[in-house]
Amino acid sequence: MAKLTGLKKIKTAVFISGTGSNLNNLIKFSKIKNSPVSIDLIFSNTPKAKGLRFSNQFNIKKYISSFKDTKIAEAKILNLLNKENIKFICLAGFMRILSKSFIKNFNGKIVNMHPSLLPKYKGLDTHIKAIKNKDKVAGCTVHFVTEKLDSGKIILQKEVKISKKDTATSLAKKVLKQEHKLYPAAIKKIFN
Ligand code: GAR
Repeated sequence: MAKLTGLKKIKTAVFISGTGSNLNNLIKFSKIKNSPVSIDLIFSNTPKAKGLRFSNQFNIKKYISSFKDTKIAEAKILNLLNKENIKFICLAGFMRILSKSFIKNFNGKIVNMHPSLLPKYKGLDTHIKAIKNKDKVAGCTVHFVTEKLDSGKIILQKEVKISKKDTATSLAKKVLKQEHKLYPAAIKKIFN
């Protein structure tokens, strides 16, 4: 990844499907003077994503396209990303799988937050799996996106202790808190 040169921030899109707490956190981070990125576009595969409200709140363009037909959706998004001169993509609770060809178009420029200590628990229900397996630690990972699900190079990870009282819900809350620290740190690590 090219280092940040000059004062210009890297135009970034955040892809979401739900609440958008990571999106909110990334927007706040982007406004800090020494943040390498600016958030210029929010994409969601569903109009129901609560995080879309941050578009109005922070005056950031939003775009919604269902992934019922992945090819059509991705072609539309690519068009828009190019038009908006977006150079970097952060997946933040984006619950669709991007195609090989889409990823190729943004090779090495898409990162994802995953709620487990990869390579453990790829895919869904990470917290349920960790509790079920009586793990002592859980955590989160920021990694580059490749065509293999949740398998790209790891940028940063953070461990979270699991207590005996934890449920999948309480664990998700604890991990999310760490995600909000980890995502900005990972972006700084990439560009600075
Ligand atoms: C986060 O915990 C994120 O790690 C997870 O979804 C949540 C989104 O929360 N992502 C995935 O599971 C991706 N496979 P948010 O909408 O509040 O940022």
